[in-house]
Amino acid sequence: MRPIQLDARLGAVANFVRKDSVVADIGTDHAYLPVFLVQQNIAKKVIACDCNAGPLSRAAETVKAYRMENGIVLRLGDGLKVISPGECDDVIIAGMGGELIADIIKAAPWVKDPRYRLILQPMTKAERLRKFLLESGFAVERETAVVDSDKIYNVLCSAYRGQVTFDETDIFFGGLRSDQSAAAAAYRQKVIDRLQKRMAGLQKAGKNTAALLALMRKLQTNGKEDAAK
Ligand SMILES: C[S@@+](CC[C@H](N)C(=O)[O-])C[C@H]1O[C@@H](n2cnc3c(N)ncnc32)[C@H](O)[C@@H]1O
Repeated sequence: MRPIQLDARLGAVANFVRKDSVVADIGTDHAYLPVFLVQQNIAKKVIACDCNAGPLSRAAETVKAYRMENGIVLRLGDGLKVISPGECDDVIIAGMGGELIADIIKAAPWVKDPRYRLILQPMTKAERLRKFLLESGFAVERETAVVDSDKIYNVLCSAYRGQVTFDETDIFFGGLRSDQSAAAAAYRQKVIDRLQKRMAGLQKAGKNTAALLALMRKLQTNGKEDAAK
């Protein structure tokens, strides 16, 4: 059987999966990632889940085409509700908004256990997701940025640690705050550009921009401004 090819975004997600783990892929859609993980002998088994019948039937077609029925189990249902505590090691939630990813984690308190690795790839609102994780005791242990078809994506690798100290730079840049790669630098610039746009909107509306300005200064100096005081 020919090996399945992943794009750079899904490849970055796959890089965080632990060898021989049982993986829950929440919102699997086409199931390309589960096929890759089993084909490459990275995952022992993947439970590929989706809350919509259409994507899950697409997943079933991919699993059949690659003859992966022995390594991939398909489940229809909402978030982590279709996974029993202890049934998986690594949880992947990729290709969704940061707030939806946070809601899925919030609804499954059993993942507040250091044995689970959460591999999260938010398409939007990454800072809301990081804020939720850090405030809930999940550490962002590693993060990577990747450029794919001129877009920048980030992938977070997280686990529950009970109590985590963090600052605003961790919320906005996460594990990319001191990453020297070109992709991470582009990611940080994108965050600053977005805040700059928000500030221009506030200024136009005659609103107070002092807090946003202070945040942008901090991010532009990558959190070093506080340390220098
Ligand atoms: C854009 S696709 C992402 C597919 C794949 N994970 C990726 O990153 O390429 C999002 C998928 O998540 C599914 N989804 C959305 N909300 C979900 C939820 N609460 N539980 C499970 N699946 C969900 C959608 O049906 C859709 O198939």
